[in-house]
Parts: sequence; structure tokens; C-alpha cells
Amino acid sequence: MKTRTFLILIFSLLVVLFAGQPVQATDIEEQIDQLIEQMTIEEKVGQMTQVYFVGQPSRFEEQVRRGEISSFLGSVLSIMAPEERDELQRIAVEQSRLGIPLIFGFDVIHGYRTIFPIPVAMSCAWDPELIEQVAAMSAHEAAVEGVDWTFGPMIDIARDPRWGRIAEGYGEDTYLASIMAAAAVRGFQGSDLSSTASLAACLKHYVAYGAAEGGRDYNTSEVSKRTLRETYMPPFKAGVDAGAATLMSAFNEISGIPATGNLYTLTEVLKGEWAFDGFVVSDWHSIEEMIEHGFAEDSVEAVTKAIIAGVDMDMKDGLYFDELPGLVEQGKVSEELIDEAVRRILRIKFRKGLFTHPYIDPNLAETGPSNEEKLQKAREVAASSMVLLKNNGLLPLPKDLESIALIGPFVKNRSDLLGCWYAAGEAKDVVALLTGVKEKVSPLCDVLYAEGCDIDGTSTDSIPKAVAVAEQADAVILALGESRGMSGEARNRSSLDLPGVQQELVEAIYATGKPIVAVVFAGRPMSIGWLNENIDAILFAWHPGIQGGNAAADCLFGDFEPTGKLTTSFPRGVGQVPIYYNHKNTGRPGSSKYVDMPGTPLFPFGYGLSYTTFEYDNLQLSDTSIAPDESLTVTADVKNTGERASQEIVQLYICDIFGSVTRPVRELRGFKKITLEPQQKKTVSFVINPTEHLSIFNYNMDYVVEPGLFEVWVGPNSSEGLEAEFEIIEF
Ligand code: NOJ
Repeated sequence: MKTRTFLILIFSLLVVLFAGQPVQATDIEEQIDQLIEQMTIEEKVGQMTQVYFVGQPSRFEEQVRRGEISSFLGSVLSIMAPEERDELQRIAVEQSRLGIPLIFGFDVIHGYRTIFPIPVAMSCAWDPELIEQVAAMSAHEAAVEGVDWTFGPMIDIARDPRWGRIAEGYGEDTYLASIMAAAAVRGFQGSDLSSTASLAACLKHYVAYGAAEGGRDYNTSEVSKRTLRETYMPPFKAGVDAGAATLMSAFNEISGIPATGNLYTLTEVLKGEWAFDGFVVSDWHSIEEMIEHGFAEDSVEAVTKAIIAGVDMDMKDGLYFDELPGLVEQGKVSEELIDEAVRRILRIKFRKGLFTHPYIDPNLAETGPSNEEKLQKAREVAASSMVLLKNNGLLPLPKDLESIALIGPFVKNRSDLLGCWYAAGEAKDVVALLTGVKEKVSPLCDVLYAEGCDIDGTSTDSIPKAVAVAEQADAVILALGESRGMSGEARNRSSLDLPGVQQELVEAIYATGKPIVAVVFAGRPMSIGWLNENIDAILFAWHPGIQGGNAAADCLFGDFEPTGKLTTSFPRGVGQVPIYYNHKNTGRPGSSKYVDMPGTPLFPFGYGLSYTTFEYDNLQLSDTSIAPDESLTVTADVKNTGERASQEIVQLYICDIFGSVTRPVRELRGFKKITLEPQQKKTVSFVINPTEHLSIFNYNMDYVVEPGLFEVWVGPNSSEGLEAEFEIIEF
């Protein structure tokens, strides 16, 4: 018997022996060693190659048989049928020389078939547990269909609402996004990555992709190492610490070095300092795009720079497969570097359990949450994500109105409520606003409706008819917003106003003098100052997913108390962008402004109303000066001063007043969601642990707590709150 055949036999025996048992890390490393020892260079670069298919995955059969493909990426256009997926897997496992399983990836961003609100919306619930539950449900649903690996969570900090991908992340704040990143990883991967119900997570887009100049996708990010460390990297670090299996290198350049060829971010920080031992996949074509960036002369140089920087797997462009064997032969890329990349990829395949259960688990469909549970969760999450921006007392609407008119392009709209990256979601599953409202009101209520105009059309012809409809009703719900195609990848906008002639529609309906609530469906913060000045109430519903219409009706009629708070600042106008709460002070704080617009946002980070009112009082600090290794407790009383039970998201901010480097005017360092009955008061407490909450990258870029004065606020949003001071002293 040839040695190779013998080794394969031993290996297969091990696989059988260990099937169903937790695999020890050392066993995995030994098995990887044995595999790498046997692999040809083509098989190695095959492991480093991910292909994409449209329509016909079977055309890759021969390559799979030769072990020249590691991973498949499905697309929105063509989701691989489960049988096709298993057929290819069978070829890889049973007919390729080494039997290494494939890993199947897909963009499961805010649900698979059950589509939840877009991530920026979900972050407005300020509830990591919800994020975790949604990720776990989405993972299960996708795993049933044969997905092993999701390209999520997307954890780019975004401070520019023109950028369409602000929809996909968790907002503008690094602290909040880091908590959400870890929650999403826990949800996707579960407590056991090898479970057939889990998905391997992929933190993306590493890094500073959200800093795209001008809000134009793919554009240059000019950020210092300090800003990288303080603002853009921490969510990735939090995701890595939570055990994320993979990361995706971004399209953008970071101050002159493309993220996909960036030795500092990928190898020095991620794999070195943070000890990340999973693998890095490039974003789609981002290796080849380094030529366009002007960072590589040709594909050979692009590949060399990517592998040396630390990109382990090549998404889509096939350049690793074409160029790496030659580069190794010429001694331009060391085989150790290739082995290291293969090792990382195999490690995740082992941890994902693909060697022990490569095929779709036939029992999985029976074991997950029922459809009813998923719909219920989608409704709850959508309602928790909606933000009540204004209410002059019109809301909640009574259910026994004699008549109500729904006006606008989102009254019956279903497909746009899905938002960007809607995976296998379908418009037919979406509950429209009209349906949600009809189910809410009394059967005697006359529900009238008119579209009034298209989302982004130019015709005003239907506005008079909409006005006539509004005139017949007791109250009007205006259903406005952006289509799903106006946010997401490459969907940037130069205006943050309502698209098309919607503003004209709004003004015509306003002229009727009827009580009006505006429900805005969108993928980004919008400049809705006119609505705020003139309309009675505004519910910002985002792109809320398949239960959007029910959830909005729950909020409008008070079956659900709106509690969401913004995780992005809403500018008054696009000219204020970028605008974010945790900016630095200037030498002339009062003078850094515009002559034609205030410098403050329309709605600040952390802002959101409910149907009751809360009063903050009695801020107490357990101590006013502590050493860096001690901790401090901050308490405040929060009272529900209204008539309805509700929840309040209590926020803790700090400011390091003087430092060896300048610090933001405020930084979020804690939040708690509390439930209060009418007139009930609760004391909310936060523990400030200096190392965890006050450390900064000092003048020398060391991560330390600097002694000195700090301000602390406990309040309902980033521009209000009770304030106190404390000191960190060196003992
Ligand atoms: C490109 C996008 O930037 C990324 O987010 C996505 O995961 C990949 N395409 C795969 O679809």
C-alpha cells in the first residue's frame, strides 16, 4: 500500500472515530499537519479559492473533484439548491483525493427567509440579546438550506448617511457597535460552532470601510492609526474576542494602503496582537482591484501583496489559484505562507464540524423555531427598532376612529420593506402597512388610501386625488421613504431628503389641516426637518422586514410602546455631514458652525420618544476620586412620570476632560433598558471600571488610563443628562 493511501485510510478512520465527539484543538492541529503534508501546491491554493456561481454550480464539479476549490459563494441571484450543495459536497468529500469538505458561504445579513429589520434599525433597540436571537434564528434557517458561513455581521462604524451601507451596520458609535458585534457572533455561531444549526461568522469589512470620503462607496478612507484604533477597529476586536471564525478584508484603501494588502491591519494587529487564528477572506475582487488602486502593477503583484499582508482566501477572482503556484516556484512567495493560510482555512472547516458532518443535517428543519415563533420575533424586533421622533399627542391613535386615510408610496408597498441584502426573503411574505392598520382598527372604521406619488418619480398627477382622500378622513397616516435599492452596497445618495415628489405630496396633505402622522421607511438617517416642524407625529420605521406593517401598526395604535433610540445622528441637512455625537472639541467650540444652519443635528444619537415621559434625578457617585485599579458606581433615579408603562434606554456617557491627546466631547460607556410602570421610579446603576471604560491610546499610542478629571452624564440621549465630575488619581 502506498504511504499516501495509507495516510488517507488512517485519516478517514480518525474522522469516523471522532464523528459526533467534540474535537480537541490539538487533534485538529495534528490532522491539519497531516493534511498539509500530503497536499500538492494546487490543492493548497485550491483551499484558498472561493468561487461564485450564477445558476449552474455543477459546472465546477471537475475542479471540486481535483480539490481545487475550497468554498462556494452563493448569490442573491442564485441560491444553491440544497441538493446541489450536497452533491458538490459529496464530490469533494468522497471523490477528491484528500476528501476535504467545501464550505458554503452566503450573505445572511438580517435574516435568511424570515427577513428582520436592517441592522442599523435593529441596533436602535439597544438590545444585544435581540441581535443574538435574530442571528441564531437566521443561522438555523440558512443552515437548513445548506449555508455554513455567513458574510456577517457587518460592523463598520458609519458617520455619513450618504453612504448606502450605513444600513448594514450598527450605527456611528464604537462602544455600542462592539457590543452588538459580539452579540451577533454569539448568535450566528452559537455556543458550539460545530453544531449543524450554526453558521461561521465573518466580521466585515476590515477595516475603516465606513470612512469612505464623501459617502461614496469603495472610496478612500483617510484615517490615522489613532482613529483606526479608537473608532474603527474596536468592533472587530470585540468580534474576534467573541470567537468569530473569519474576517473579510475591505475594498477601501486606508491612508494609502488598500485594506486587502495591508500588513499592519491584517497581520500585525489582527493576527499578531489580537491572536486571531481563523482566516481572512478578501472581499469580492478586492485583490485584483489593488491594480486599479495603483498599489499593484499587475495580478502577480496584487496576489503577492495580498498573501504577504495576510489574506488567506481569495473571494471570486481566482487570482490566487492562477498566480500562487508560480510565485512559490519562483521563490517570490514562501510555501510557509501558503501553508499558514491553508492551516487557518482547514482549522475553521474542522471547527465548523465539516469533516464530521459535511452534509445538510436532515433533522435540522424539525428542530428549529416554528414559523409562528419566527414571525412573532420579526414583529417584536421590528417594533423595537422603530424610533418615535415626534409626537404632539396624536399618538397612539385610537382604534375606534370613524375613518383613517393612508397616503403615500409605502401604503401597500411590500418589497421595499425588505431592505438591502434580503437573502432568500420574498415580497409576498411582507405585511404592508395598510394590512397592519386594517387589522388594528375597529371593523367600523373606514380605511381609505391613495398612493399620491411614486417613491422617486417626478409625476405629481396623483396628488390631487390623494388630497381628496385625506379630506374625507379623521386622521392621516403618511407612508413615506426610500426604496430598498437606495441603500446598501454602492447605493449612496447625495441628498438626504425624501426622494421624488414626496415632499410635495406631504405639503399638499398638510394643507388639508388634518391630524397627520408620518411613518418613514428608509435605509439611512434622513433630513426630515420640515416634517418635524409641521407634522404632528413621526415614526421612523427604517426598512423593517417582513413584519414591518404589523410592527408599525403596533406602535401607531399603542399595542407596542415605541422605545427605540437612534444609533446615528440625524442631520438637519446634507451639508452637516459627517455629523456624529462623539466629535472632538475645537479651540472655539461655539464658533465652529454654519451661517445658514446650526451645528447641532436634527435628532442626536441616543434620541427617541415613547408614549410616556421620564424624569432623571439624583445622580450619585460612590466616590469622586479613585485610583485606576479601583471602580466607581454611578447611580441615578429614573421615574416614569406619564400614564403608560414603558421602557427607557438609560445611557451613560463620559468625557476625559484633559489628556495627552484630545478626547471626544462625550463617549457612550454604558446603557440599560429598564421597564417602568406609570409613576414608578427605579435607581439605575453603572459601574465604571477605569481600565475597561476610560482607557485611551495616549500620546505614545499606549493603551492606558490617564489620571485627571472626567465628566459623567446619565441621561436619555447624547445631548441631555444629569452631570457630575470625578477624578482618577495616581496613588
Ligand atoms: C461584496 C460585499 O462588499 C460584501 O459585503 C459581500 O459579503 C460580498 N460581496 C459577497 O456577496
